[in-house]
Amino acid sequence: MATADQIKALVKSFVDKDENRFFTTALQVADKEERLGHNKVASDIRKLVQTRDIAHLSTKRNTKFQSLKKSAHISLAESDIEELLHLTPTSARFSDLVLDEECRGHIERALVEYRQKDQLAKFGLLPKRKLLLTGPPGTGKTMTAKALATELHLPLYTLQFDGLISRYLGETAAKLRMVFDHINSSKAVYLFDEFDAIGAKRNGSNDVGEIRRVLNSFLQFFEEDSSESLIICATNHPELLDPALFRRFDDTVEFSYPGVEEAEAFIKTRLFLFESEGINFKKVSESVKNLSYAELGQACDDCARDSVLNYDGKLTQTRLINSIRHRSKM
Ligand SMILES: Nc1ncnc2c1ncn2[C@@H]1O[C@H](COP(=O)(O)OP(=O)(O)O)[C@@H](O)[C@H]1O
Ligand SMILES: [Mg+2]
Repeated sequence: MATADQIKALVKSFVDKDENRFFTTALQVADKEERLGHNKVASDIRKLVQTRDIAHLSTKRNTKFQSLKKSAHISLAESDIEELLHLTPTSARFSDLVLDEECRGHIERALVEYRQKDQLAKFGLLPKRKLLLTGPPGTGKTMTAKALATELHLPLYTLQFDGLISRYLGETAAKLRMVFDHINSSKAVYLFDEFDAIGAKRNGSNDVGEIRRVLNSFLQFFEEDSSESLIICATNHPELLDPALFRRFDDTVEFSYPGVEEAEAFIKTRLFLFESEGINFKKVSESVKNLSYAELGQACDDCARDSVLNYDGKLTQTRLINSIRHRSKM
């Protein structure tokens, strides 16, 4: 059975006279039925779509673009999508991340569910696919998006907000729609970094027209999205987000500064190349106060450089603690 969201999307595209979206949604329903083992229904739907000679629409970006132009009454160049979505190189692995137990549990769960989505589909279940990552800067939110993309062998696209928010009435919503069309047609990990730029409270002080419209459009597209892409929104300021947003995510994951245990694991990994005999890493880690992973990484690198240039590459506990204290004071 098509989900309620898919039925709504079908009706909406009919009302909007958006043929392209209508048939794309129909093909999604067919895919879903196939995953559920309902091969006959899936093939019947596909045949119906083909008899209207419309199937080519879902693959011809140009046609899609024409319909977007028509519905938005604006002129957007096809290259705009490249301005909006930046294909981001990834090499980070899940094992490179140091996370507290709870945070690791959430990310691992998302990874496992996505990997086993076909198994879940047999029982009509969907994996967690829309994640909100919150926490201070330098705690691994962006790195997590990269690691998920690497582990799932998917490309990572990062949304460029400066390209998105427009001064012109309605244009932002049309651009956002292009983004969601891309999410729908190209399976990947999509990162909406610094998400508070569009997700801020609607009644907040920055409640200027276009920003408000962006949030409304985002909410609509986000809810309608039933693609196979993984959508990750990250923010350092969850308190700024509109409360209406939270329930639309499948999971919220909180990132935080490293505790002693995490700091120890992080420092050891970061400095694994160095001779470290006699260093009590637990003691070193206890000196870490109010530093993000990114800052702790810088403290380790400060000490590593000093060791290479002045001490034959040999680390000492005192120098390591001094570098950490120095970073904490900055
Ligand atoms: N949890 C973490 N585990 C390992 N390295 C981390 C972690 N958090 C941050 N780092 C290091 O700091 C850098 C910046 O982190 P980033 O993911 O951009 O933080 P955020 O997006 O939360 O601001 C990373 O590239 C990595 O080198
Ligand atoms: Mg980040």
